[in-house]
Order: sequence, then structure tokens, then C-alpha cells
Amino acid sequence: MLMPASLFVLTHDLMNFPRTILFATLVLAYACARSQEIRPGQIWNDTDGRPVNAHGGGVLFHEGIYYWYGEFKSGVTYLPACNKSWGGTRVDVVGVSCYSSTNLCDWKNEGIVLPAVIDDTNSDLHPSKALERPKVIYNKTTKQFVMWMHIDGANYAAARSGVAVSDRPAGPFRYLGSFRPDAGVWPENVTDADKIPGKSNHLARDFTNGQMARDMTVFVDDDGKAYQFYSSEENPTMHVSLLTDDYLRPAGKFSRIFIGRSMEAPAVFKHAGKYYVIASGCTAWAPNAARSAVADNIFGPWTELGNPWVGSGADTSFGTQSTYVLPVPGRADTFIFMADRWKQWDLADSRYVWLPLEFAPDGRPVLRWLDQWSPNSSAPSNGSPIMGKTGVSTRLQ
Ligand code: GAL
Repeated sequence: MLMPASLFVLTHDLMNFPRTILFATLVLAYACARSQEIRPGQIWNDTDGRPVNAHGGGVLFHEGIYYWYGEFKSGVTYLPACNKSWGGTRVDVVGVSCYSSTNLCDWKNEGIVLPAVIDDTNSDLHPSKALERPKVIYNKTTKQFVMWMHIDGANYAAARSGVAVSDRPAGPFRYLGSFRPDAGVWPENVTDADKIPGKSNHLARDFTNGQMARDMTVFVDDDGKAYQFYSSEENPTMHVSLLTDDYLRPAGKFSRIFIGRSMEAPAVFKHAGKYYVIASGCTAWAPNAARSAVADNIFGPWTELGNPWVGSGADTSFGTQSTYVLPVPGRADTFIFMADRWKQWDLADSRYVWLPLEFAPDGRPVLRWLDQWSPNSSAPSNGSPIMGKTGVSTRLQ
């Protein structure tokens, strides 16, 4: 490996410092920056040497480049009075950040691609609101990059979905507005009882004005159809909702899934012809045991498969909450699981936990902790093990 000229000049000039030590340190630092390893839970610096700031995010692969979008969290974490009962700390909204990479390790800061709107307190994007879990999908027909996100007030009562578009993956994105999805339509699997208004029947309550939508993700199927998964009905039940062909709105076809199971932070992917969800329970920033589920039909029925995590930290998902599962391009059935390790009282210092997703012989997704691993070492392309890893056995028995 060639040493950059600037480093050589530096070592040459510092005559009073033991030269060999300085030289070794500098070369090592240079090598580490390019070691192409992922270290779950540790500070992950971008190519400018600053911590990547893209929480609750997702990754889009487009024309050879990965784009990582997420919540840019900075400033003081505080607990608004309205959220005291459940510990809902927050930072003010700054916007959605974007980073680009060709190797999934070295991320270049592309800036804030959907900024907060500071001068309009009524805007969905005002710093006092909540903008969470942004995900971007590409529409091959319209050639637009479409961002979906959870939009809310500080007390999370609005429970809306926001949409923004851009002609370029690295933005800027133009905000189109927010809504409650699936207004005026009953789900595919509605029962007669579901239609009877009642105090605890939130589906019927919200029939006219649209369903509550908090934690969410979007997923594009092989046939180009896209779906939104969102936690609804005050959170106990999730909905899966078909999007219009331009991906900008709900198409008016949805179904209730995981009824009464209180799941959020959904990450959706397809493996061996089946649909999978990895999600969390609803315990705000505190980690809980993840859930996984499989279905032949995206609208259900879904069969729960239990906690995908194995090992001694599995009951709290090793301190993490799911956010996305990235299918690795060019490697059939190979996936990277992405999660957040939230710091409730210092949200800006929340960390990322990315791990290779494995599959048990019966098809269950499996997650095991690794201190570090490389997404780019040569490996078989048939799923498990998927990539070079350090520290534990690499194959499920
Ligand atoms: C979590 C949710 C996050 C955020 C947080 C607020 O349960 O997954 O996206 O909304 O609650 O406390």
C-alpha cells in the first residue's frame, strides 16, 4: 500500500519524535480507515472523520452506489412534559441525512437531503415535530426517488406518513406533505366486528380520516409493486398497505397483520420466495426481544418465528432495535440487518448495529453478535455464512 505523500512529509518533519513509532501509528490509522470492517455498536466515522448521523435509517442501492438515509440527530436530548409518563425523550428535528458508499464501510456525507423548516411552526418539518424512520425507494417508471417517513408532533398523537421526492438519490428532496394512510377503505381481512364502532375499535374510529401510522418502512417487491408497513391502531396492530404505481400514496388496498401484538420498527425483506419481517416490541427507546415472521403472501397470513437473536443478549436484542434489512446486490439471498442502539438521554450518540443475517435450516432468520466483520470479503453467495467475520463461528449448525 502506498503511503500518502502528506503523511510522509509529516513523519519526515517531526524530528524530535521517535520516527518509527510515529510512522507506524500513521500507517495504521490510514489502514484502519480503509480496513473495510464494520464494528457494530462502535462509533462509525464518515470519510471526513465525523460520526455517521443517520438513525432509524435505510439503505438504497442505485447504479453501483449505496445511499444510507436516516434521522440526523443532534443537540440536546430532552424530555417534553407531554411524554413524561413513558420516557419519550427527543431532540429537535434537523432533517434527513444521506451518506453514499461503494463498499458499505466508507461513507461520504451527502448532507441533509430533506432539511427541517425552521420558520414555519405549522410545517410537518418544523424542528418541534417528529420526523422518524425515513426510507427511500426508487420508482423505475417515474425515475423518482421517493422518501417515506413517520411524521408526528412531539407527543406522537398525529401518527402520519410523510412523502418527499427527488430526481437524484442524494437529493435535495421536495416534501409533498403528510396524511393518515388508507382513509375510507376497510382492510382486506376486515371482519364484521371490526366495522362496529366502539371505544377500543381504533380501526373503525379512523376509517374516515385515515389510519394511524407511526413506525414504518417501505418495501419494493420483485414485480415493482411497493408496500408500506406501519404500526397502527395506537400501535397494537400493524398494517401492510399497497402503494400506487408512482409510490406516492396508498393504493387503497391494505391488511391488518400481527393483530394485538404491538410491533414496531419493521424491517421487511424477501428470501427464497417468502416475505419476512423483523420488528421490535413497543417499549420506546428501550430495547426488547425482537420478533420475526414469515408469509407467502405479503398481505398475510403471517406466521411468527420468534426472536431471531441468539446468545446471551438476545432478550434485549443486544441493546438494539431493527430499522432495515438490506439485500446485498449481486449476492443471492444475502442480507445485512441494520439496527439502532438508542441512547435515550443522548440520542445523537445512538449507535448502529449492522450484522449479516443468517438463516437456520428451517428458514428462520438468525442474528448473532459479532464484534467486527467485513461485508466485502469473498464468501459463498448462498446465504449463510455470507461474509467474513471475526470472533465467532460463522456457520449455523
Ligand atoms: C420507538 C420507535 C422510535 C421512536 C421512539 C420514541 O419505539 O421505534 O422510532 O418513535 O419510540 O420514543
